[in-house]
Amino acid sequence: MPSHDSSAGGNRSYSDIAIEDRYQMLIDAVRDYAIFMLDPAGRVASWNSGAQRIKGYSPDEIIGRHFSTFYTPEDIAAGKPARELEIAATTGRVEDEGWRVRRDHSRFWANVVISAVRDASGTLLGFAKVTRDMTERTRLAALEHASEVTTQMQIARENEQKRIARELHDDLGQQLTALKMGVALLQTRLQMVTGLTEPLAEARELQAQVDTMAASLRRISADLRPPLLDDLGLSSALDWLVEDFSKRYGIRAIARVPTDSDTDEFAALTIFRIVQEALTNVARHSQAHTVVVSLKRAEDGCMLDISDDGVGAPPVPTAPRDRKSFGLLGMRERVRQLHGTITFDTKPGAGFSVHICFPESSLKGDRSS
Ligand SMILES: Nc1ncnc2c1ncn2[C@@H]1O[C@H](COP(=O)(O)OP(=O)(O)OP(=O)(O)O)[C@@H](O)[C@H]1O
Ligand SMILES: [Mg+2]
Repeated sequence: MPSHDSSAGGNRSYSDIAIEDRYQMLIDAVRDYAIFMLDPAGRVASWNSGAQRIKGYSPDEIIGRHFSTFYTPEDIAAGKPARELEIAATTGRVEDEGWRVRRDHSRFWANVVISAVRDASGTLLGFAKVTRDMTERTRLAALEHASEVTTQMQIARENEQKRIARELHDDLGQQLTALKMGVALLQTRLQMVTGLTEPLAEARELQAQVDTMAASLRRISADLRPPLLDDLGLSSALDWLVEDFSKRYGIRAIARVPTDSDTDEFAALTIFRIVQEALTNVARHSQAHTVVVSLKRAEDGCMLDISDDGVGAPPVPTAPRDRKSFGLLGMRERVRQLHGTITFDTKPGAGFSVHICFPESSLKGDRSS
């Protein structure tokens, strides 16, 4: 431990401190790494505050104990601690990443470097061991990976939906048109054969049924893939979505969107899906009279707002929800994919608003799919 000169009354400067104390102070100040010495047999000979923080032992508890204490029973059974010392002694250094064990027996993912320490004549004095707790890093890397996988899955799903929507339109849609023409032809022939002046009620019924089927088909494929998004762009698609919503649910819906929204396909689809989900919530939960969807472009990005004048959301329950809701979560995830921010603003009786900001750089990115 550093020798503190209390007689100096705290006025001691760094240059007054003996060189070996300076090293000790330096090592002790490092809190993110466990830095300690092992004797040639692998017993702990020194301990820093980082080691105490990461592994949970105070110096009294650990000094003198064999360093295999930090290894898992499986690694001990496999002879790993001795092997690592042997490699360090022979080659000068060994590096390893794996599970290590804390004082409370919990495990952490560690990066470990063991270096042999020798005197001028080459006699082995012991080993310097530096351990870094990689748990947080590994967790962040796993989260990053998971979110990348989610984005790729979403892109794949959207592409698949696009394909199905196209198939429905091009294949079933054409067949329905042919069917309708067939019924009309049959109807004309029937009238010619029977001499009837009016179309048969059954034929009219059939035609109406075909019309209903065609409308359902259009609705289903539009739900799968917004038809105008690919052809006319985000602004027209949002206008269509809002108008269609109003017709479907009888809620006044106003779209305030610029004529040219100038985004790439992924950003356009993301914004479209968010508005779609927000409007579904308005239909399901709000009892609103009016909802306003507004998209504003600025130099540094764009702002999207969906606000209704309905009953608002109930206060957030303190107890865990018995049913999982994914709508707002999904919106958050989509916003995160475009590096934006999202806030929900609601009070019981005072409507529900979703405010989103996307940075400019995320609206026209270089995306691989
Ligand atoms: N416009 C709104 N008006 C009032 N309450 C809303 C509104 N939007 C969301 N909420 C509240 O927020 C909750 C969570 O919404 P969320 O979309 O996450 O889930 P959900 O709509 O209940 O289910 P789903 O997972 O099918 O979307 C809703 O259950 C509702 O209580
Ligand atoms: Mg919902």
